[in-house]
Amino acid sequence: MKMLYNTKQAVLFEGGNPGYNYEVLINKRYNFAEGVEILSKIDWDFKDFTTQYLTHTFHSYPARFIPQIPLTFIKLFTDEREVILDPFCGCGTTLVESFLNNRNSIGNDFNPLAALISKVKTTLIEDTQFRYFNRKLAVMKRYLDLDYRRVNEKINDLPNRKISAIFSRTVISKLEAIRETLLEVKEEGYDELFDFGRVALSSTIWSCNLSALCKCTGLLQSSHV
Ligand SMILES: C[S@@+](CC[C@H](N)C(=O)[O-])C[C@H]1O[C@@H](n2cnc3c(N)ncnc32)[C@H](O)[C@@H]1O
Repeated sequence: MKMLYNTKQAVLFEGGNPGYNYEVLINKRYNFAEGVEILSKIDWDFKDFTTQYLTHTFHSYPARFIPQIPLTFIKLFTDEREVILDPFCGCGTTLVESFLNNRNSIGNDFNPLAALISKVKTTLIEDTQFRYFNRKLAVMKRYLDLDYRRVNEKINDLPNRKISAIFSRTVISKLEAIRETLLEVKEEGYDELFDFGRVALSSTIWSCNLSALCKCTGLLQSSHV
């Protein structure tokens, strides 16, 4: 497997090295009882640690772990190539850390969005596929602003008509153009890109709704929105 970052987790400790002791601690080999002892030596605040890196940045999700929590347990209690099960995997933090540390993993979640995000965050996509995807998006972009009147004719055929209560027609037409492009990507056999695109679209809609909500409730300063 291609390593995405070095085994000393260098990317975790950008800007100084707050994690040096932590890094030394978790990278030694322990038996189970010693591993349990180490748990009490760890400062679980992980203050000043980088927690958003690689695919951990994909998509918001409620009540996520910071990556260092599953990472600690993975390092202390499992060996490379062992299998880690997260039965309530949410958006896949444990699965990503398992992947980055050469462990196999199985995730389960009854929320289909959680399962999709987890899958996308742990799937490698080849550069050639991204080049294809960029070309597809460039074509789509040209039509995004031109075609919104078409939505008036199509609104009754959209998969979820309640969407018109949330978004303006202009926005729906842009979303529809993105959805149609993603369906073409799937039809053309790029299932992994289709899933990646769906997660990106969901993430965008999620953050737009959140900022609209925050604006309404005055939680954010207007300069931040
Ligand atoms: C707090 S989130 C886990 C977040 C995860 N630790 C992370 O960092 O992404 C808990 C998850 O448990 C899932 N869940 C709760 N009850 C479940 C059940 N009975 N079967 C499967 N998943 C369940 C929820 O859908 C939710 O995604």
